[in-house]
Amino acid sequence: MKAYHPSPAFLMSVLLAAFTAACAEFDVCAPPAANVASLPARLSETGLRQADGGLAPGVVAFTPAFALWSDGAEKHRYLRLPDGQQIDTSAVDDWRFPVGTRFWKEFIRDGVPVETRLLVKTGPADHEWAAGAYVFDDGGVDATFAEAGAVDVRGTAHDAPAASLCLGCHGGRSSFVLGFSALQLGNVAPGGFDLAAAADAGMLSTAIGPMRVPGTDDQRAALGYLHANCSHCHNTQRPMTMGPRCFDPQNELDMFLRADELGDVAATGPYRTLFTNAVRKGDPANSTLFQLVSRRQPKGAFGPQQMPPLATDVVDEAAVETLRRWIQAP
Ligand code: HEC
Ligand code: HEC
Repeated sequence: MKAYHPSPAFLMSVLLAAFTAACAEFDVCAPPAANVASLPARLSETGLRQADGGLAPGVVAFTPAFALWSDGAEKHRYLRLPDGQQIDTSAVDDWRFPVGTRFWKEFIRDGVPVETRLLVKTGPADHEWAAGAYVFDDGGVDATFAEAGAVDVRGTAHDAPAASLCLGCHGGRSSFVLGFSALQLGNVAPGGFDLAAAADAGMLSTAIGPMRVPGTDDQRAALGYLHANCSHCHNTQRPMTMGPRCFDPQNELDMFLRADELGDVAATGPYRTLFTNAVRKGDPANSTLFQLVSRRQPKGAFGPQQMPPLATDVVDEAAVETLRRWIQAP
């Protein structure tokens, strides 16, 4: 075979293209949709709690089987469906929620309530959600909508994301809801709010079969971590966006656990797509994925410096250990 010697001009153009691509502002998300203006100014007006601090009637607490790492913050999650309405669960991996559905997620960092995030289904189209963070007042009782987010909330190291950034993750699936899904509820430990509990509460439009993530304990932990922390960006069914590309990886890595691929670990997205440079079997140190998850540093001119690329400043050491064991014996 004839050796290929690229010309200096060609090399220059490749370098330039790589540099331009790396500098593209993929991490600047479109301004939040106008419906953010529909969000109440104060958390106390969103319908989560009653005056005595208890949950409002109809509000249900849940915990996903696999959590997003939020730098060690304690999190509590809730939803409320409009009275008498159900979730359209016919697309098993992308549930559709009735207009008026509300989800909240409370964050407590170092024992201090810092923010509560809110997602509201504002219209029938898939993208019609309003999303934003409420940052707690000094007293820690009520919180104020912060469209631009906030840094070091209440003297902690916690940052509340801007409303535009919510969609960098939640806009990566047509459902927008990431932790209340067939896969997540189908793997909740006994006693938690799971698929059966959701069915008993009349929330689901169709019965959902077993959703158990396959594999050994280490494989399940690794697959669950990747699903919860990476798959909203790294999946093959990202909806089209109107605005510029926002945190779109534009690569083939697929970390989403699909219902129809749970028969065997080898059929799952991570096993089909990660065993390249991203994951070198038996060699965590030389696996790009492992390197990116093991550090926190700002994006450089030549590619990503950390994964996930936003909403975390602290390495998830437990996840790093899980991934190390999994890569050593995949
Ligand atoms: C880094 C990605 C990421 C960003 C940024 C992000 N979220 Fe989430 N969010 C998730 C994931 C993943 C879950 C589900 C797992 C969990 O809760 O631990 C979730 C859960 C939620 C929930 C509970 C309902 C659900 O989808 O499971 C709410 C409410 C929420 N987020 C609101 C927001 C709002 C509002 C913002 C912006 C202020 C935001 N999120 C920013 C990834 C993100
Ligand atoms: C908010 C969206 C988002 C999340 C969440 C996310 N990624 Fe990425 N990822 C990207 C983007 C965008 C790129 C493209 C590279 C860049 O930053 O320019 C990328 C690139 C990568 C690459 C390829 C790097 C290379 O050198 O080719 C790997 C591997 C990766 N991500 C792993 C992960 C893992 C593991 C997680 C979860 C722990 C994760 N990502 C979470 C958006 C995301």
